[in-house]
Amino acid sequence: MQVSFNPAADVEAAMLQAATAIGLDCARFAPEVRTADPKHGDFQANGVLAFAKREKQNPRALAEKLVAALDAVTRERYDVTIAGPGFINFALKPAALLTWLRAFASRDALKSGAATAYAGKTWVVDYSSPNTAKQMHVGHLRSAVIGEAICRLVAFSGANVIRDNHLGDWGTQFGKLIYGYKRWADPAALEREPIEELERLYKAGNDATPDGSPALDEAREELVKLQSGNPESLALWKTFTEVSQRAFDSIYTRLGIKFDHYLGESFYNDKLDRVYNELTELKIADVSDGALVVFHDEIPRFARNAERPNPFMVRKADGASGYASTDLATALYRSEHFKADGIAIVTDFRQGDHFEQLFLTVKKWFGAKNYHLPELHHVSFGAVTGEDGKALKTRDGGTIKLKSLLDEAEERAYAVVSEKNAELPEAERRAIANIVGVGSVQYADLSQNRSSNYVFSWDKMLSLEGNTAPYLLYAVARIHSIFRKAGVKPGEAETAAASLETPAEISLARKLVKFADAIRLATDTLRPHFLSLYLYELASEYSSFNNADKVLVDDPAIRARRLLLCARTLLVLETGLDLLGLRTLQRM
Ligand code: ARG
Repeated sequence: MQVSFNPAADVEAAMLQAATAIGLDCARFAPEVRTADPKHGDFQANGVLAFAKREKQNPRALAEKLVAALDAVTRERYDVTIAGPGFINFALKPAALLTWLRAFASRDALKSGAATAYAGKTWVVDYSSPNTAKQMHVGHLRSAVIGEAICRLVAFSGANVIRDNHLGDWGTQFGKLIYGYKRWADPAALEREPIEELERLYKAGNDATPDGSPALDEAREELVKLQSGNPESLALWKTFTEVSQRAFDSIYTRLGIKFDHYLGESFYNDKLDRVYNELTELKIADVSDGALVVFHDEIPRFARNAERPNPFMVRKADGASGYASTDLATALYRSEHFKADGIAIVTDFRQGDHFEQLFLTVKKWFGAKNYHLPELHHVSFGAVTGEDGKALKTRDGGTIKLKSLLDEAEERAYAVVSEKNAELPEAERRAIANIVGVGSVQYADLSQNRSSNYVFSWDKMLSLEGNTAPYLLYAVARIHSIFRKAGVKPGEAETAAASLETPAEISLARKLVKFADAIRLATDTLRPHFLSLYLYELASEYSSFNNADKVLVDDPAIRARRLLLCARTLLVLETGLDLLGLRTLQRM
């Protein structure tokens, strides 16, 4: 369904049309429409200033001419004012707000009003991507949570999204693991706690093969056998991958994540020679100390003569492939096979240099070969720390298992829910705690700018106050309860709404119409916290409205318009939380 009322975009179009009408060269004029400080209006066109300066015109006079040239529909919908040296402010009139509320009545309508910039585009999102035979750590949780939100945002804005889990399933550790496995594997433990058992076997293998020992030669022999395709070794390796994947999947299920592909590093084994050959032939890579490497002389850090040379290692001196080799092949595969227009890889910031070098290399390579070059994004995030500012660990200093972390979240949420709703049956409290617990962990991560380090605090994330999952989920449940009391379904009672009157009604409506802008900002920057912040502000606005204006009054006209506002707030909150990967509740 196409809705033909999309405020920010409409203002942009109206400004361009006015510019044409007064004879400006639109190729040189950008209206620069932004959401405005609510004191001034809903949207602000800032572009007049820069244009006037360039063209040596008086900005204020130019703004006045533009405003006078605005079309009739725009004047009917907005109060337009000029502020300062030439900012143009647009404030939606109550009747226009009502039109918006009526039009955006479903998730699909909201979707059609969201950025369509991604329509027809294919995006590959590479996230979570843990290493097999190892416990997933908190960093992989961040990657999973942020990555899933990005998938949903980009898809909501029109893209075809491919979710790819780039497992670290290849590498030198498998020699030692097979060595340990062949000697000490405990089938029962492997059944019960597969990853823990594989970690134990790797450790045992590692301890038994110190440098220079004959045992180490045996472990190396295991690796060579695996890499040369020995069937027995491959079968073992396949088992490791499968049990790992099963353990990972149980986490993904709890987070509502379903990957389309698990194209791990091993998938690219037979695609590496082409990388070596093409980069050599193009003279992008050259041999240095026996290794095949790429320098980027235009970036001092990556230059040949850097103080501490840090080349991109395409192939190691012993001929082995590495992280860089597989990532180069991966980029090519995503371009050729998936025809990706965008690639987003979600990992922590410590891999920043790797991806910078990867992207520089890919751009030179694809450019020289005329390959389709996708937009390349390293979606990086900061570390997770405990409240003491140190890396998050268990009490005894071990790594935190994600399974126990999610279990603890549910337990703690159960305590909160039970305290609030002692009267609900146990099973219902458990079901609520499941959604609130997992949602709190997801939301705590998504509500912060991903670039910052993130302080993991149970008390904060489970609080019913502030920008938290419980606060938002509670707002949703509260609106559902209003509809239960009214005896109507959201979407039923509102057609009779004929106007918006009170300041609280108008203020809430003005926040609602900004949804598409929040989506666009979060999507274009690949930063979900912009959407979280918006949802939090919307919920706060709703709460002010609720305190100021009683919804279930007798007067049918007032009741209808307030129910309309409730219904739209509910729709936007539920849609927004779903885009962040959270499930919502009707009762809490
Ligand atoms: N396996 C890596 C890790 O655990 C993350 C992989 C990210 N994706 C990629 N294409 N390099 O840190």
